[in-house]
Amino acid sequence: MPVRIILNGCFGRMGQVVSSLAEKDEDVEIVAGIDRITGSGNSFPVFKDIEECEEAADVIVDFSLPEGNDTLMEYALKHSMPVVLCTTGLSESQTENVSKAAEKIAVLRSANMSPGINVLMKVLKEVAPVLSEAGFDIEIVEKHHREKKDAPSGTALALADCINSALDESFSYVYDRSSRSERRPSKEIGISAVRGGTIPGDHDIIFAGEDETVTISHRAYSRKIFGSGAIAAAKFLKGKGAGMYSMADVMS
Ligand SMILES: NC(=O)c1ccc[n+]([C@@H]2O[C@H](COP(=O)([O-])OP(=O)(O)OC[C@H]3O[C@@H](n4cnc5c(N)ncnc54)[C@H](O)[C@@H]3O)[C@@H](O)[C@H]2O)c1
Repeated sequence: MPVRIILNGCFGRMGQVVSSLAEKDEDVEIVAGIDRITGSGNSFPVFKDIEECEEAADVIVDFSLPEGNDTLMEYALKHSMPVVLCTTGLSESQTENVSKAAEKIAVLRSANMSPGINVLMKVLKEVAPVLSEAGFDIEIVEKHHREKKDAPSGTALALADCINSALDESFSYVYDRSSRSERRPSKEIGISAVRGGTIPGDHDIIFAGEDETVTISHRAYSRKIFGSGAIAAAKFLKGKGAGMYSMADVMS
């Protein structure tokens, strides 16, 4: 039996990618979509509000906006349904609420569903302490399309968190140097966001040392990598017990 998915944000850019990938995959089925806007071409029922949805399903896949997160988590708890949470830009209180929900249901939250970024995070944990010890400064530059609402990207923050966890959480993040007039402190990760055009997602992690730089880059050439990652995560999460999972669990 295919994994039955409720797709939250089904008419958005990512929602459309996930539904078209699901159509070609006999191991998954979108049984319902949720979206605030009206769309077309869907082969499943669509509800404006998740609370109206009574379809039986195994997993919720969420690519929407942070505003609806509380209602989404309430629904998932009420129906004991695992959630693949891909929406970025959640507030601190929403993040806490999600962690609490993970005590009762399975939640897989990842700011980036692509295999490449998740392997890159493993590499960063190895490389960052060595280069930092050798005196290299760390900067992250991300580029995304003009429609993206949150900045910096959830992925840039996840990359910074990954590096910082390998450095004993001793670094602080800086997003804007315009009001500062001082030498760059060493225990700092600079995070810069570029917005324009249709870029699906570029991330550069720059280690800048004396007379040399090491740059580790990831380029997304289409949104398919995020969509297929979300579908793999939904397959993985079906039937899983309570807990907070990550893409590393899916890939291991
Ligand atoms: N984790 C990842 O790998 C990954 C990859 C790409 C995008 N994202 C994130 O996913 C989210 C969606 O991205 P997008 O490019 O598809 O955005 P989008 O703006 O194109 O789509 C969002 C959709 O959600 C709908 N929506 C808004 N509020 C809703 C609610 N309360 N309930 C249901 N639907 C609602 C909107 O009407 C819209 O159709 C963003 O937060 C983005 O940063 C994550």
